[in-house]
Amino acid sequence: MIPLLEVKNLAIQFLTLDGVVHGVNQISYQVELGETLGIVGESGSGKSISVLSILGLIPSPPGKVTQGEILFQGQNLLEFSSQQLQHIRGREIAMIFQDPMTSLNPVLTIGKQLTEALQVHLKFTSEQAKNRAIQLLTQVGIPNPEKRLKNYPHEFSGGMRQRVMIAMALACQPKLLIADEPTTALDVTVQAQVVELIKQLRTQEKMSVIWITHDLALLAGLADRILVMYAGKIMEQATVHQLYKNPRHPYTIGLLESLPRLDQIRQDSLPTIEGIPPNLIDYPSGCPFAPRCRFALEQCFQENPPLESIEPNHQVACWVKT
Ligand SMILES: Nc1ncnc2c1ncn2[C@@H]1O[C@H](COP(=O)(O)OP(=O)(O)OP(=O)(O)O)[C@@H](O)[C@H]1O
Ligand SMILES: [Mg+2]
Repeated sequence: MIPLLEVKNLAIQFLTLDGVVHGVNQISYQVELGETLGIVGESGSGKSISVLSILGLIPSPPGKVTQGEILFQGQNLLEFSSQQLQHIRGREIAMIFQDPMTSLNPVLTIGKQLTEALQVHLKFTSEQAKNRAIQLLTQVGIPNPEKRLKNYPHEFSGGMRQRVMIAMALACQPKLLIADEPTTALDVTVQAQVVELIKQLRTQEKMSVIWITHDLALLAGLADRILVMYAGKIMEQATVHQLYKNPRHPYTIGLLESLPRLDQIRQDSLPTIEGIPPNLIDYPSGCPFAPRCRFALEQCFQENPPLESIEPNHQVACWVKT
């Protein structure tokens, strides 16, 4: 069976006055039906642009997909017209972001926004759409849904707004939900509730999920597989179990070591990865992580290591492979 999503050799660049920014550098990955893929990496590693490109949402200019294929159910989305993409967006693939206000229209009631999507995409009558909207708000745990339909986005708390956005994302029962740091702006308790909600819904709706985060710990109970990105490259790709038990890329090891643990009483003693990511304009010819890597060899500064399989479902781009 073909994967739901298959990204092959994707490269994204930005033409800026300072030069060409190599935002994403030939990454390949797949998302299977019903699977949750976590993407982790520090700020600027290319997590957002790699998924925005799926729906043709890279700001262009300055951005451009310069290479690769994005196959959704076997069809290359990069060859779709904007009208064809419009049809996929929301209906087959939905996205939720860190800030719900970027997806919600502040001047329309949430009832209007929810029912409109249903009327446009699924040709629901206004009565059908209203019933479905109530059902959706109930599903995401919003009390008094019928009354809440008449409220504007600003009348909801941050956590509730995030739930409304999830309801909108689910409205047309997409096959793939892309969540780009949807809980980063929420406090820890609400964050846990939203994660729980999405876990529950993905089972009910049999959705595949791509979940982007800085927080490797958050993915432990959520993802099936994890991609570790650095400087627009995939450094390691493995099942959650393998990644935690047997991390092989020094960058992944660094990320895992910097997670707070309950047995560490002094939080300020947490190890961090020294140094900063490379300049994406003068992209290094060796491994982009080499200057920060405690295991780096001479070869690491000269040649970029390819992503290689080391065991089933586990790939690493590293000459040392610790
Ligand atoms: N509009 C733009 N113009 C120029 N460069 C850009 C633009 N958007 C993104 N980039 C480049 O692409 C890189 C990847 O950006 P992206 O937003 O995907 O990072 P990210 O991993 O999502 O980071 P964060 O965790 O902060 O959200 C950035 O480091 C930046 O250099
Ligand atoms: Mg981002």
